[in-house]
Amino acid sequence: MKVVLSYSGGLDTSTILVLLKKKYNADVITVTVDVGQEDDMKNVEERAYELGASKHYTIDAKKNFVQEYIFKAIKANALYEGKYPLGTALARPLIAKKVAEIAMEENADAVAHGCTSKGNDQVRFDTTLRAYLKPNVKILAPVRELRLTRNTDMKILSDYGYEIPESHKKFSIDENLWTRSIEGGELDDPVREPDESAFAWTLSPEEAPDIPAYVSVEFEDGLPVEVNGEKKDPVEMIKYLNSLLGSHGFGRIDLIESRVVGLKSREVYEAPAALALIEAHQDLERMVLTPRELRFKRTIDEMWSDLVYQGLWIDPLRTHIEKAIDSMSKFTSGVVKLKVFKGNLSVIGRNSPFSLYSRETIDYNTGWYPSDEEARGFITIHSMYALTSSKIRKAL
Ligand code: ARG
Repeated sequence: MKVVLSYSGGLDTSTILVLLKKKYNADVITVTVDVGQEDDMKNVEERAYELGASKHYTIDAKKNFVQEYIFKAIKANALYEGKYPLGTALARPLIAKKVAEIAMEENADAVAHGCTSKGNDQVRFDTTLRAYLKPNVKILAPVRELRLTRNTDMKILSDYGYEIPESHKKFSIDENLWTRSIEGGELDDPVREPDESAFAWTLSPEEAPDIPAYVSVEFEDGLPVEVNGEKKDPVEMIKYLNSLLGSHGFGRIDLIESRVVGLKSREVYEAPAALALIEAHQDLERMVLTPRELRFKRTIDEMWSDLVYQGLWIDPLRTHIEKAIDSMSKFTSGVVKLKVFKGNLSVIGRNSPFSLYSRETIDYNTGWYPSDEEARGFITIHSMYALTSSKIRKAL
């Protein structure tokens, strides 16, 4: 049997590789999709061969990830349950697509992934894989099928004589350009403050410098194009913001999250660039969109985020929503100034050629004033429903 395994080099996929090879004697081809995780791809490849892969692919999908996934998330201000920038959820459909492409090229009998039956990722992987694979190609989920746990993983790997890297023992980590997610172990106690060892991208606010940093971001059609007046390649821009803002203690999230599979979980994330870009983007929208556009957009933004979280990237509704978002994003151009200081980020200024804000008009001394008559007329009509209903209901 020829199996293409979506391989991260982590505990679960390493165990699966060993099991497929040693126990089931499968020919295993490993695929690692680089979406900006900070692993050394050469090490991941070496480890795959060491654990028995017959062939290994490393696919650099960073650019693709930013342009086709992260950009859409910025335009949609995508924060699941108002807080999580969806890093893992966004990367899964891309990873699954790339893995499916290799499986077709290699004429594989099956594709394997390392998701558990308690998580969201199985939904995302299975759904996207099914959309791209021929019906005769099986989807194997050994962790789910054999009920593997992190403890059994470690036992299996050490039984076969493989060493387990220290970093894999404490938490379950998933990382890409957009978000670093840390879960499991002691973090499962929701009342306990996460230990500093959980964090890798952000300094604790206490350790952050005593002087603030200022960052200005220029947007064009809803997308960031310049930072501090300099054009930046999007992948580099995200890396730059992650490192600059993270070094000021900004970007940590601690969230009780509603999983797709009916469970609340405690999730800890680091996402400095994502949180800052969404904050800035949303601020600019407040300046250029009408109140009704804003309200409508917040609703469809949330629907978009929900679809992505639920593993329904392939749902046609996503593209319908994106068309509406794109149409409104044409006016989200301009500059937003941010200040970051000891873990806090604030928008401290903004400007746009499409601004609906007019300083001359708003000015109390010199600006436009409706006449008393105009104001009274407006208020009478505006409050008619509220006044009528409150009178009638009081009388009852
Ligand atoms: N809860 C997040 C999601 O479902 C992140 C999961 C990442 N997995 C991990 N092992 N840290 O998208």
